[in-house]
Amino acid sequence: MSQKSIYILGIESSCDDTSASVIHNGKVLSNVVANQEIHAKYGGVVPELASRAHQQNIVPVVQQALEQANIDKSQLNAIAFTRGPGLMGSLLVGTSFAKSLALGLNIPLIDVNHMQAHILAHFIEEEDAKKPPFPFVCLTISGGHTQIVKVSDYFEMEILGETIDDAVGEAYDKSAKILGLPYPGGPLIDKYAQEGNPKAFKFTKPKVGDLDFSFSGLKTGILYFIQKQVKENPNFIEENLVDICASIQYTIVEILMDKLKNAVKQTDIKHIAIAGGVSANSEIRKRLALAEKHWNWTTYVPKFEYTTDNAAMIAITGYLKHLQNKHSDIAITAQARLKVTE
Ligand code: KG4
Ligand code: ZN
Repeated sequence: MSQKSIYILGIESSCDDTSASVIHNGKVLSNVVANQEIHAKYGGVVPELASRAHQQNIVPVVQQALEQANIDKSQLNAIAFTRGPGLMGSLLVGTSFAKSLALGLNIPLIDVNHMQAHILAHFIEEEDAKKPPFPFVCLTISGGHTQIVKVSDYFEMEILGETIDDAVGEAYDKSAKILGLPYPGGPLIDKYAQEGNPKAFKFTKPKVGDLDFSFSGLKTGILYFIQKQVKENPNFIEENLVDICASIQYTIVEILMDKLKNAVKQTDIKHIAIAGGVSANSEIRKRLALAEKHWNWTTYVPKFEYTTDNAAMIAITGYLKHLQNKHSDIAITAQARLKVTE
């Protein structure tokens, strides 16, 4: 790493969180996230409302990130922003803001791939965090993606497998909706699951390729099961909530661990990282700790605040790109669809 003093401002606005972060030589000085409460009552993210909220939030969020970092914008060396993937209207707010600020300050602009950033959050400089050595395998699990990626270098990634339909975060959120829980339901299922019996109800695991995922069948299975039970007992959900949540969580985490086992077998790589919003999940964290003990894996779990969408992961990716002089042209545009390899 460079000995020079480098400040990077990261901006994230791909979905429903507006976030800004300042990092100094890879260390996080601030990581401000403004959640958009407005979507909860609609049971999911409403794109038009998300982009409007980003417009309201972006200036105060960036200001707060600079204040907390205790630096002036004139000290920034570059601006990193999420180019994609994500919701176009949301991405446009961050992209336009980042471009204007970089132009105004006459400093480099750096485009960041959101999916790469989830993975590269592992390279944030932290006192007690261990960084994965190359090559490692990363299971990226979020509301929009579910992938197993082989990471050979910071910007050398290969998708080994991915979901053919829903993402795992979607499976969590849609199951939660079926149970009448508010959006995003993933953290709530996780919370209730911890008090329930994971073997109380059995859901069928999907049959897909060794390293691929499918969650839409599981979601339908859960829906039919709940509909049938509620017909017989209208209070079924309330009476069994913790057991239902524990059983859903058990099935999902079993699927994730099965795929990771397959990936280790195929690649012979035992350095395993997880990334993305669902990597906040308590059960996957427990299971990875067990895998360290029993299967000799070395596992890398991001700090809680770097799991769900945040700008620190954008800033660290921007920093790593800056060190390699990977700057963007000011004419760059947002991309709603972008592979982790692009
Ligand atoms: O990475 P992220 O913030 O946004 C995307 O890029 O998609 O991931 C959000 C997803 C949501 O589906 C949310 O329900 C899920 O992560 N999530 C969790 C937990 N915390 C967040 N799912 C299960 N257990 C959790 N503890
Ligand atoms: Zn994300």
